[in-house]
Amino acid sequence: MYTEKVMDHFMHPRNVGEIENASGVGTVGNAKCGDIMRIYLDIDENQVVRDAKFKTFGCGAAIATSSMATEMIIGKTIQEALEVTNKAVMEALGGLPPVKVHCSLLAEQAVHAALWDYAKKNNIVIEGLKPPVNDVDELDHDGEEE
Ligand code: FES
Repeated sequence: MYTEKVMDHFMHPRNVGEIENASGVGTVGNAKCGDIMRIYLDIDENQVVRDAKFKTFGCGAAIATSSMATEMIIGKTIQEALEVTNKAVMEALGGLPPVKVHCSLLAEQAVHAALWDYAKKNNIVIEGLKPPVNDVDELDHDGEEE
């Protein structure tokens, strides 16, 4: 049911933890399953993501996608990080079962929420970034499911 990559990131998640005095922190939940994800970003003066950490109270797919999403955004500019979609994360993991697609939205949205927090703290606008949702259930699911 799960690819080897998903299992690897679930069993050995990268970047678990917190960042003290993070540049931005984003927390997003999914009211349907009760899962919650928090992403911490350390962003340098050139607006490059120096480090990213996560804490996920959630299912295996949520843990694997948060692990992969943090791997994918480290070293990227904030604009590039914004473009790391849940689809890109799923592709990097070799896919997720259809019922687990929504779990990957938690990772995408938690990154967006952390970028939003960073933008707010620094009084900047990140082009294309929408105000974060608290619950991914409020989103349209890209027609992937439901
Ligand atoms: Fe809730 Fe996966 S079942 S995030």
